[in-house]
Amino acid sequence: MTTSTTNQPFLILGVESSCDETAFAVVESTGRVLSNTIASQVELHARYGGVVPEIASRAHLEACVPLYQKALAEAYVHMEQITAIAATQGPGLSGCLLVGFEFAKGLALRHNKPLVPVHHIAGHADSVYLGKTENAWGHSLTQAQPPFQPYVALVISGGHSSLIAVHAPLKYEILGQTMDDAVGEAYDKIAKLMGLPYPGGPLLDRLAQLGDPNAFKLTLPLSRASDDREACMFSFSGLKTAVARYVEAERKTTGEEVLDANFINNLAAAFQQTAVESLAQKTKNALKKTGYKRLAITGGVACNSHVRTRMKQALRGIKIAIPAPEYCTDNAAMIAGLGARCYQQQANQGLGLNVKASWSIEEFG
Ligand code: KG4
Ligand code: ZN
Repeated sequence: MTTSTTNQPFLILGVESSCDETAFAVVESTGRVLSNTIASQVELHARYGGVVPEIASRAHLEACVPLYQKALAEAYVHMEQITAIAATQGPGLSGCLLVGFEFAKGLALRHNKPLVPVHHIAGHADSVYLGKTENAWGHSLTQAQPPFQPYVALVISGGHSSLIAVHAPLKYEILGQTMDDAVGEAYDKIAKLMGLPYPGGPLLDRLAQLGDPNAFKLTLPLSRASDDREACMFSFSGLKTAVARYVEAERKTTGEEVLDANFINNLAAAFQQTAVESLAQKTKNALKKTGYKRLAITGGVACNSHVRTRMKQALRGIKIAIPAPEYCTDNAAMIAGLGARCYQQQANQGLGLNVKASWSIEEFG
């Protein structure tokens, strides 16, 4: 079995299947992405308005072999050139995790390579180290070990809204998380109740840009929470209910199920402004608490146009890194990139491991 801890760059194959995206990627230990292939299941789940675990597992099974071959072909590498295989061990849907993780085990066994288990949320938090020529911090990807400075990671996706302190490589502390819905989940649920297709985030983002955010009054969630316990906590369920009430009232007034386009645009804008303001406020508290001057914004919702502009305005003096959109949504490059760090630090490895559907980031590393 290959075991190298030299400072020479090496290649990692990454495998991700925790939710509704099957993904394979080849990444150099510098963070340079050689290939990043994804099979999205959005269309399969769209008519149900959310992810159906059984359908997702079956789709992962079908996608693994072709995507694995595509990832190697696009990177112009053979398995002999790969040093280790990193796969998402958790958290996620257990049936989905199982498909990718066991596939990775099979590859590791067949090609005599180490299997490196990776935490999905840690993968998001570390995705700022990925790129083609430079990472999201602006570092050129020529050094074997990219420079590290402590930072706060705001991980915002369909499953998670977390503020995480990354004190050192593989040393994570949860500063706060959502008490109910994740922010992406709130986007998806609001879109559904407005009669819009899944996933709601990208569409509501586009519609919000056409609307007036001040047309509706929405309260900022947990905004008076000054005590330590809630200062970095999120809540999006009340906001979602407030939006639902406006939708209900509008349907009652018009007597129509289909909502007026202006109404949707304005309500989407008001929701987006309030949700992003909450993200900014809680992130400010997290930065204050740690004293860190660097912020990574990652996960699917980091693609949001208002997140990208507003966070920079609200957090002056903070160096903000937001990965390219293909590294924000679920992908295997982030799993491979973090897998390289784990491999270098000789973190937990082995074929005897099992998937962990629930797994705290603080127990990883
Ligand atoms: O990271 P991701 O691909 O998967 C999870 O781990 O959940 O994130 C998907 C989530 C979905 O909820 C989707 O609606 C949301 O990210 N999303 C967005 C945008 N693009 C994706 N939400 C708001 N604005 C966007 N532009
Ligand atoms: Zn994710």
